[in-house]
Amino acid sequence: MNAININGGTPLYGEMIVGGSKNAILPILAACILTDEKVTVTNVPKITDVDDMLYIMRDLGVKATSSGHSLTIDCSNICNYRISNQHVGKIRSSVILLGAVIARFSCAIMAHPGGCDIGARPIDMHLDAFRQMGVEIRYENDCWLCNTNKLKGTSIALPFPSVGATENIILAAAMANGETIITNAAREPEIVALQDIINLMGGDVKGAGTSTIRIIGKKRYHGCEYTLIPDRIVAGTYMLAACATGGDVLIKNAVPSHNALLIDHIKRMGADCNVLSDNSVRVHKSKRLCAIDYVNTLPFPGFPTDLQPQLMSVLCLANGRSVIRESIYESRFKAAQSLCSLGADIKVTSNDTDGHYAVINGVNDLKGAEIFGTDLRCNAALVIAGLAAHGNTRINNAHFISRGYEDIVGAFLNVGADISEC
Ligand code: UD1
Repeated sequence: MNAININGGTPLYGEMIVGGSKNAILPILAACILTDEKVTVTNVPKITDVDDMLYIMRDLGVKATSSGHSLTIDCSNICNYRISNQHVGKIRSSVILLGAVIARFSCAIMAHPGGCDIGARPIDMHLDAFRQMGVEIRYENDCWLCNTNKLKGTSIALPFPSVGATENIILAAAMANGETIITNAAREPEIVALQDIINLMGGDVKGAGTSTIRIIGKKRYHGCEYTLIPDRIVAGTYMLAACATGGDVLIKNAVPSHNALLIDHIKRMGADCNVLSDNSVRVHKSKRLCAIDYVNTLPFPGFPTDLQPQLMSVLCLANGRSVIRESIYESRFKAAQSLCSLGADIKVTSNDTDGHYAVINGVNDLKGAEIFGTDLRCNAALVIAGLAAHGNTRINNAHFISRGYEDIVGAFLNVGADISEC
């Protein structure tokens, strides 16, 4: 997909169904490396991050077969501990393979991982934790070389609740000698999903969803079947799209508790947002929304940085002045420039001392224009703005969106949007 074309200004009506979680499936694919037996995951989204992860894993000797949204992973013939093909530079989650590969081979070689260009994204916490578990690590010829005689369980206090570092430690600790205790662990729902599948494979992981996680290492893991949790960022994007365009949208297969703070913010802005008993959320907006004084992105259960650009799009049209502070990534206001091309009034101030802020003065109307996406969530924000803007919007560099949204064009067509890909 090169570009998305939208004739905006139409309220959305109907149902949108949320697929499986991108940020949960990637570490779960890494967890499959812990066993020789087959693991089948259902509700897997058809997104390019999954394709890229599988491409890297196939290079290790992993067999992956898919049928619809079901994926079976067979790591019985895994033969390679070099995580270094060209796709490693494309997705950040390639780093999550490190813990599982070290667990399986006691060594690994990995090229530095890529991902969206939204900030520095170092991997020091991952490497420090592995060192504490007895892994020797050095950097040579653009690759991380990791070796250990035996992974040992230990207590690891993370300086920040990093999602990826928490996942990587869990994966390495799953086969380490003895018990590993992580304090200040990330509490995201995707960590709970990882705990659930490892335990289904015969593991002993407790505490995911809290700040302290205990993992007792095991020698062997077996296959299992697992259904992936819904993608809370996709669910949140759909909710925010309904807020921006107006109308009445039922978002199905969402887990409301995963988006509790977002739902609270949507209500504060003045839209109706009702949680229904069957894990669906109805968003109904019929009048102009009001601004939010201050939103700060934080690790879960705080407001997710992955929904910040999409919220910024909505606030462009809200009545009054909103302030967003971005606490996770220093370069995550890239959507602002394109939103201003549509007529938004956003001022971004960013420095390492005071932090990274966007001040948004709501305007009455956005007008369609040709704009440029820069990364996955920026593009989701631009789709929302394009749906709300009057006239024609063309979003170039649209391909980033396929990293995390399955058929976003079809999803919005289904609720009455005039949207197409080109
Ligand atoms: C995951 C999500 C990503 C989300 C992010 C924060 C996946 C596949 N991706 O990314 O969508 O935006 O959580 O919710 O799950 N950091 C360090 N050193 C490290 C590791 C992280 O300084 O070793 C910093 C990062 O630069 C960032 C912050 O910690 O500023 C959070 O990063 P982290 O939670 O690790 O995010 P990811 O796991 O990469």
